[in-house]
Amino acid sequence: MDTRYYIANWKSNKTKEEARLFLQGIKEGIGKIDLEGKKIILAPPFTLLDFCSQYIKEHSLPISLASQNVSSFPSGAYTGEVNARQIKEFAGYTIVSHSERLRYLHESESDIENKVREALNEGLIVIQCIQDEMSKVHKDITIVAYEPVSAIGTGDPDDPDHISKVFDEVLRNNPSVKVLYGGSVNPQTISQFKSIGTLSGFLIGGASLDSTSFLSLLNG
Ligand code: PGA
Repeated sequence: MDTRYYIANWKSNKTKEEARLFLQGIKEGIGKIDLEGKKIILAPPFTLLDFCSQYIKEHSLPISLASQNVSSFPSGAYTGEVNARQIKEFAGYTIVSHSERLRYLHESESDIENKVREALNEGLIVIQCIQDEMSKVHKDITIVAYEPVSAIGTGDPDDPDHISKVFDEVLRNNPSVKVLYGGSVNPQTISQFKSIGTLSGFLIGGASLDSTSFLSLLNG
């Protein structure tokens, strides 16, 4: 059975206490879920990576961690940046090229290239977001998450047939990647993606903030 990824992208949300309550909710509910073939990855803000990593270890939760961003520079005099080597202490994955970073932080194609290089050099597994089938998938990417801007946070996901077409195009050029969908995936919408045969999972924003809703996605 192919692995199905459930990646929780918390974006710029949660304090430590809020993260603790979420993880406690997962700890209490996860025993009732069939986790066969499922891979759970949590992408909290940098400030919570250490706490989440400790909590996950302490309670032996089947959750891996991702960072939501990685510096395009190595260690050094880059004020405010968090580099791949620092991330590697807590997380095995990193997200790059999320549309919110392209839009609000004006990340360029060369920034992303440098981020991917830094991440791969440190052995992080890269989850690259793409906004459409024209987006360039970088070399040595393991996971590609197709996230059309119009579907993010709107409650209106992309049409499964269209998602399937985008996946086919991505897989034609990059046959070894896993393709995920993201954009308004929630307990009400998740069943509509079942028909997409090439789908390897989901990148989930809003619906990953609440443990009950995230558990219900894992159950679906
Ligand atoms: P959403 O966000 O699930 O809230 O639509 C998805 C994402 O941006 O990763």
